[in-house]
Amino acid sequence: MISDVHSNLEALKAVLEEIEKDDISLVVNLGDLVGYNANPKECVDLVQKRKIISILGNHDRAATELKFAEGFNILAYQALVWSSKTLSKGHKKYLSSLEHTRVLWDRYLLFHGAPENPESYVFYLFQAKKVFNYMRKKTPGVRIGFFGHTHHRAVWKRDIRGKVSKVEIPEEQLVLDAEQMYIINPGSVGQPRQQQWKASYLVFTNEPETISFRSVAYDVQSAQSKIREAHLPDYLAQRLEAGV
Ligand SMILES: [Fe+2]
Repeated sequence: MISDVHSNLEALKAVLEEIEKDDISLVVNLGDLVGYNANPKECVDLVQKRKIISILGNHDRAATELKFAEGFNILAYQALVWSSKTLSKGHKKYLSSLEHTRVLWDRYLLFHGAPENPESYVFYLFQAKKVFNYMRKKTPGVRIGFFGHTHHRAVWKRDIRGKVSKVEIPEEQLVLDAEQMYIINPGSVGQPRQQQWKASYLVFTNEPETISFRSVAYDVQSAQSKIREAHLPDYLAQRLEAGV
């Protein structure tokens, strides 16, 4: 599971190389392939070439229809306008073909921000509760969801009594309890915001159901130089090494 690549080709390549070392059959991207960093075309090409299953993020949607970028902060907006100019019609066609929400193999819900809206966040308890309620109503039988958007790793669970709580990020592999529901965020590949700069991703196994959070170093200097060469806001380069 990968998310929030945000046009960071160096980080995406580093993650895909790591993934290749493991016996992983499928890569799923939880949205925001473009925006912020300097290689939108290359990231879209690579995801298509590798047959990565992707869902639509708010930046992907805004790159194809700029009116959706109106609520963005100024840095995100500037980078988005640049991305939109850089992407070809073909890239935009691909992005606009992506769905906000998708159920994989009848068992796993994939969404970017929240199932009903790619712009909404799951940061707090009430937001996690809302997603579990959505799953119980709209996708009965689906116990596990994966999402992105916050650029923060997270695991939320709902036990059989209906109590929702945040699970501490496991350092080792975590076996998911078959009686509980979960929503899980792998963190961000291309712009992690948890005070560490390495590209974050998640390895999920379905039999048995387990998760392992991973991170990998990448050539952050190269990603930064490209941002500066493209005359994107300098803070977008600075924040990569700080992981904010
Ligand atoms: Fe994002």
